[in-house]
This record gives sequence, structure tokens and C-alpha cells, in this order.
Amino acid sequence: MNILHIDSSARIEGSDSRALGHRLVEQLKQKFECKICYRDVNIGLHLLTPEHMTAFYTPEKERNQKQRNLTIISNQLVAEIMASDTIIITLPMYNYNIPTSLKMWQDLVMREGLTFKSTPNGVEGLLKNKTAYVIVTNGGMAVSNPDNLIEQLMRLFLSAMGVEQISFIHAGELAYKKQQSLSAAKQQIANI
Ligand SMILES: Cc1cc2nc3c(=O)[nH]c(=O)nc-3n(C[C@H](O)[C@H](O)[C@H](O)COP(=O)(O)O)c2cc1C
Repeated sequence: MNILHIDSSARIEGSDSRALGHRLVEQLKQKFECKICYRDVNIGLHLLTPEHMTAFYTPEKERNQKQRNLTIISNQLVAEIMASDTIIITLPMYNYNIPTSLKMWQDLVMREGLTFKSTPNGVEGLLKNKTAYVIVTNGGMAVSNPDNLIEQLMRLFLSAMGVEQISFIHAGELAYKKQQSLSAAKQQIANI
């Protein structure tokens, strides 16, 4: 199993999302021979600039040295997801959304001609046969709240790249019912 393990919490010590992701990875390692690619999206990524966009859309052979340099990180992220068959993403809800760090990763890994292509019928994902586990923590918002859009956002994003098999593990409302919520998430992980 080639696992791409992505953490996005701004916290390291005491991060519940990181701890749950680590637990799932350890469990998979017990069952399968695993190669792990670890990516903390808080480190080394960047926002898109007009120069990055131009470099991405310039055919590879026509890029100058500066443009080649501008594609390095994005190309690396694309290579990591392409090489994986299992994607584990951990994320805390920040201001009703995913963390900015994870959004940066999304914007760098969603590359036309590499992870998706545009067709007359819309976007077609180019990643095939991948399974994703998305572990989501939050402080106060019920997972069942219709305004909780995290699952929808992550499903849209992953399926646009062709990842169709997606499981969510939620540990919600940690500010109010931490033990109960974490136990349920751990049980869900144990059942994988
Ligand atoms: C900047 C920031 C914004 C947050 N926004 C929300 C929010 O909109 N809704 C919510 O339920 N919890 C929110 N929280 C709480 C976190 O989602 C919660 O503490 C989560 O468990 C943190 O995950 P971690 O332990 O992996 O860092 C926020 C926390 C931070 C630091």
C-alpha cells in the first residue's frame, strides 16, 4: 500500500486530527506492507501567483528556467498523489472551512493535464483507483449541521481529480463532548 499521509492542523502538540491520522496509518501498517509519503501542508507550500499560473499553463518543453523553478513544488505534490493508492488527509475545521494550508495544497495539486482534464462535459479526474480517508475535527459545529460543508467540499475536490472512493471520519464538537467524539472516531478507524 502506498500511502500519502497529509496533515494540516496548525497545531502539532495536542492536535486531535494529527493523532487520529497517525492512528489510522499505524493500523494500516499492521495489516499491510506500507510505503508512507508524509506531507505536512503547513511547511514549504505557497500561494498561487500570476507567474505560477503562467508557468503551469506553459507547455513543459517551452518553460524557461524561472518557470521550471516555479513548478517544482506543485510537480512534487502531483507526483506524491499520483504515486499513492491510499490518501489520508487530516484536517481541523477553521472558520467553517478547511485550513488555508490545505487549500494551498489543493490549489497546487489540482493541475490541468496532470490530475484533471477539461472536457466538453466538464472536468474529468485523471487519478484512478485511489481510496481516500478524510479525518475531520472541529470544536463546536455538529457534523449533521446543514451548514457544515466540509464533507461536501472535500468530496467535490477529490472527485474532481478522479478519487471516488472516499470515507470520512469525523470527530466533531470536541469542545463539548471530546471523549465521546474521539471514542467514536477511534471506533470508526478500528473498523476500517
Ligand atoms: C483558527 C481556528 C478556527 C476554528 N474555527 C472553527 C469553526 O469554524 N468551527 C468549529 O466547530 N471549530 C472551529 N475551530 C476549532 C477546531 O476545529 C478544533 O479545535 C479542532 O479540534 C482542532 O483540530 P486539531 O486538534 O487537530 O488542531 C477553530 C480553531 C481554530 C484554531
